[in-house]
Amino acid sequence: MAENIRMPQFPEPYWRDSVDLPTFPKLKESTNVDVGIVGGGIVGITAAYLLAKQNMKVALLDAGVLLNGTTGHTTAKITAQHGLIYDEFIQHFGIEKTALYYQACIEAKKLIEENIKEHDISCDYKTEDACIFTNSNTYLSQLKAEKKAYDQLDIPSELTDNIPLNIPIKSALIMKDQAQFHPLKYLKVLVEEAVKNGLEIYEQTTAVDVEYNKHPAIVTRDGHRVSCRFVIEASHYPFYDGQGFYPTRMYPERAYVIAIKTPKKFPGGMYLNAESPTRSIRNVNVNGEDLWLIVGENHKTGQGKSTMDHYQALADYAETHFGISEYVYRWSTQDLTTLDKVPYIGPVTEKQDSVFVATGFRKWGMTSGTIAAKTISDLIIKEKSLYEELFSPSRFQADPAIRKFTSTNADVAKHLIKGKLEYTNDNIKDLAPDEATVTRINGQRTGVYKDMDSKLYAVDTTCKHLGCEVNWNSGDRSWDCPCHGSRYSYTGEVIEGPAKESLNKIELE
Ligand code: FES
Repeated sequence: MAENIRMPQFPEPYWRDSVDLPTFPKLKESTNVDVGIVGGGIVGITAAYLLAKQNMKVALLDAGVLLNGTTGHTTAKITAQHGLIYDEFIQHFGIEKTALYYQACIEAKKLIEENIKEHDISCDYKTEDACIFTNSNTYLSQLKAEKKAYDQLDIPSELTDNIPLNIPIKSALIMKDQAQFHPLKYLKVLVEEAVKNGLEIYEQTTAVDVEYNKHPAIVTRDGHRVSCRFVIEASHYPFYDGQGFYPTRMYPERAYVIAIKTPKKFPGGMYLNAESPTRSIRNVNVNGEDLWLIVGENHKTGQGKSTMDHYQALADYAETHFGISEYVYRWSTQDLTTLDKVPYIGPVTEKQDSVFVATGFRKWGMTSGTIAAKTISDLIIKEKSLYEELFSPSRFQADPAIRKFTSTNADVAKHLIKGKLEYTNDNIKDLAPDEATVTRINGQRTGVYKDMDSKLYAVDTTCKHLGCEVNWNSGDRSWDCPCHGSRYSYTGEVIEGPAKESLNKIELE
């Protein structure tokens, strides 16, 4: 990479930088609605839009600002090609359920298209083929098996050894007629339309619990209550677990995105490799110029190498294959994977059927988030949905995912113990600006970050969720928990749950 091409100093997603979003007040008093929604991403906004359109009184709360979570940091592919899954799903669930999963993805795509058409939304929507490629002999047979699964499911597709993108491949599986868009331009209009239909939105309003009397009520950190008939937890990680043991049934992964300009013209299409490390590629056309989004380096949250190394690995890959003429944005994202790779969408537990969750989208949130909103809205309005059983969070499949369940929990136990023992003897006076370390202060494992102005911030690194030890994420300047993915700012405030409380601050003498 040319010397003068520098990585942006701060993470910022292109999506947020290119749209002006409206702002909303904090909830200042208790309120009463039909449906209380927590989380202002694609699930919460789409559900609010659908329900408000049906004359339901809806309030939507966000702990921060709208569209600043996983949706604001997505790659925004609208596709049913969610990695190599269909052959695996047919073996685990059978052809009927797998066909239903595919149908759900296609219905999500159609719903997005209908909304765009109805409101004439200008959101850079573009039909593109989706492509999974491999350059490894190990994955050739898997690609063939996946193609066979596509044929069984009547998915329009093609297996080829020739793609328009100039990267070495041995084989590629194309899923025809998928799409990409600018998710925030799209969702901004859904917000405006829902507000016209009476939606109340409250930002900077953190939900901490659900209480039951006759009906559920969302309780906020400030002690206000949103009494309602139904609650939708669209907060990524369910803020209210209802003793559904979600932390033991999902694990969080991070991924990285760089947005670059290259000397080459983008040939069209959306690409994803089959092997590790993950590489996913699409473009965004900005004022007639291609911005290439290079995505990948997935890893479990709070684990592995320095997060800046992940950005560098993507930059090296891009430079090798396409050349980088300008490095415009970088950002990262996090999502959750369920035991059987199918999202949890439906009642939080079998007995609490007026509180709904939508989570575990495995980074395919544009389709899964849209169908989650549709499924839950149908369950509320029509009391049924075609996808109710498929996505039920209470399902239990005796399949190889159980092995993952065991190893995931063993992993949590390992981090719970290992984290307590790990720290450095760094003298915090020697920290360079924008550097952090974990050290012992008065016997307490302490995370210390020095900002650009050499001001020190110290936090107790014990995660407020279930007590694992957080690790430093240099790329995002955050403290990340390796157990269930809670994330905290360098000052200790919660960025991402399941934790609800800030890390304890430690006074430095
Ligand atoms: Fe569960 Fe930290 S997120 S212990």
